[in-house]
Amino acid sequence: MQILARMIRTNDSGLGGTVAAGIVLAALLVTGCAAHDPDAAVARGGQVFRDQGCYGCHTVGATGTPIATDLTRIGAKHDEAYFVQWLRDPSQQKPHQHMPKIALTDGEVRVLAAYLSSLR
Ligand code: HEC
Repeated sequence: MQILARMIRTNDSGLGGTVAAGIVLAALLVTGCAAHDPDAAVARGGQVFRDQGCYGCHTVGATGTPIATDLTRIGAKHDEAYFVQWLRDPSQQKPHQHMPKIALTDGEVRVLAAYLSSLR
């Protein structure tokens, strides 16, 4: 936080510095919340689930496309560590799987795993 304060002070000569400091602060808040607040991680995960097109093959409740596994209660079947592994590389878990490997960041994997675990 001291570093951040110094950045804001040394950068306040122009609007660019203020905006940059604001972006850094916003990024810290977003990642910080997802890491420490389980509810925020679940909410973010639900958003990533929509954004990454998971509904294109899966259903959760009444939403989605019933091509693959219904995930409405998937959290009762597997734990969070399993979801992290599965999302990083589905083929490691099941050699004959039909789910494509989807490019996800570590942060997206983490919140998606939290979201999937909450589905029970
Ligand atoms: C192109 C279709 C497709 C897309 C898109 C897709 N999946 Fe899947 N998914 C599958 C299929 C097929 C299976 C079943 C694989 C099997 O059991 O062999 C599966 C299985 C799963 C499982 C269950 C694993 C288990 O062992 O029970 C989870 C959890 C899952 N997908 C999550 C996701 C998430 C999260 C996304 C979005 C990032 C996603 N899927 C996107 C096709 C897809």
